[in-house]
Amino acid sequence: MVYYVWLVVNSLLLISSLLVIWVSHPYDSATVLAGKWFAQLAILLFFINVNMYFIFLVIRKSKARHVKVTLSKRARSMMKAHIPFALVGTSMILFHGAIMAWKVGATIGFIHPKMVTGYGSVGLLTITLLAGFLRHRKASGFRRKFHLIAAMLFACLFLIHLFWPI
Ligand code: HEM
Ligand code: HEM
Repeated sequence: MVYYVWLVVNSLLLISSLLVIWVSHPYDSATVLAGKWFAQLAILLFFINVNMYFIFLVIRKSKARHVKVTLSKRARSMMKAHIPFALVGTSMILFHGAIMAWKVGATIGFIHPKMVTGYGSVGLLTITLLAGFLRHRKASGFRRKFHLIAAMLFACLFLIHLFWPI
């Protein structure tokens, strides 16, 4: 049951992000188009990273042994990509932010909510990365919570940023 809710939520997020990015916001230049592609690819990688929480949650809660074993194997292989995904996503987002600040900022204004939620997302992403590295070096209860809360706040803010109309 939880599994289906999770699947449906993920699919809805994916479809709605595609709609927002490619249907509802037309672009006016090739550079902005590249900036949108950077953002689209980066949020896919971030979605996968945020999903680790739900995978670990299902592993913890599940009573069926075969589910625990199969998911644990999958989680282990996904965690191999966790840090590369974070770093590649971050590089793409930096290009995205730079392109948008350069090409769109002057048109919609640098204090437009789309811009401000963008700056905020970069800030939370930085904190998430920092917390991830701390946790990677030496995990503790506090470091686990810190990385998790940072990641969730980051996801909330970038979703607001994504859906904010311009
Ligand atoms: C300095 C930071 C940022 C600035 C100035 C910024 C600015 C913008 C602007 C102006 C758009 C609208 C582009 C258009 O549709 O023509 C946009 C779209 C988008 N941004 Fe950002 N952004 C920043 C950071 C981020 C971050 C950190 C994320 C995600 C982690 C992100 C994800 C997205 C996504 C997915 C879209 C596509 C939605 C749409 O087309 O409206 N952005 N951004
Ligand atoms: C886009 C950035 C990132 C996001 C959205 C993200 C998100 C997450 C989430 C949601 C979890 C599951 C947390 C839990 O259930 O307690 C997690 C686990 C973890 N993350 Fe990240 N993370 C990011 C970047 C990083 C980075 C850069 C590192 C390390 C250099 C890192 C290291 C870890 C480690 C070690 C775990 C624990 C895995 C385990 O328990 O086996 N993360 N991350």
